[in-house]
Amino acid sequence: MVENFAKLHIMDHPLIQHKITMLRMKDTNTKDFRQLVNEIALLIGYEATRDLPVEDIEIETPLMKTVGKKCPKQVCLTPILRAGLGMVDAMLELIPAAKVGHIGLYRDPKTFEPVEYYCKLPPDVAERTVIVLDPMLATGGSASAAISFLKQRGVSKIKMVNIIGVPKGVETVLEAHPDVDIYLGALDERLNDHAYILPGLGDAGDRLFGTL
Ligand code: PRP
Ligand code: URA
Repeated sequence: MVENFAKLHIMDHPLIQHKITMLRMKDTNTKDFRQLVNEIALLIGYEATRDLPVEDIEIETPLMKTVGKKCPKQVCLTPILRAGLGMVDAMLELIPAAKVGHIGLYRDPKTFEPVEYYCKLPPDVAERTVIVLDPMLATGGSASAAISFLKQRGVSKIKMVNIIGVPKGVETVLEAHPDVDIYLGALDERLNDHAYILPGLGDAGDRLFGTL
């Protein structure tokens, strides 16, 4: 077990727990699944952005001058394709000025190792806080690989937002990347022989896009 589980933030909010329970149910249809992923991403995203820096700005209300707060334009959202796409709209509602990078990875069905097929990031990504989005943190291979790509491109401030993970995935990411904060909706028990999360929700990408 890695030491720095202080970097793991598990959401204990009742609304998140309620929505994740609905997400898990096998009879939840594609439309509802998509809606729930969106709502959960918004709630976890709120927590994950709690420590973003703010700057003072002078403003004028109808009555007087005062000093307000402003979040500088500094965030890049980066979904891991495909399933991470389902979390982007909610995060953009929170941070409309964010840029969006994309990292395409799929798990080899035999080795469970991540295979890269796409990577497009904004040119100034190294100056931004990057929030990596993916509903599932299973072996942790995809998340670790995505974070490594970002670091190779000079990114130093990285947060990871997942809806469901397991201890193995968390350990893998934090062993490779102890500087990264992980925001997790629920920590499940374990992986099955096919590296699927138990109890989990099944295949997030397939349920999100109706490709089961
Ligand atoms: C899923 C999920 C993660 C990855 C997690 O994607 O969205 O990216 O598996 O597994 P890991 O922690 O063991 O790497 P998948 O490879 O099924 O691709 P998809 O989103 O295109 O369906
Ligand atoms: N990817 C998924 O979509 N679900 C899992 O349980 C594990 C990896």
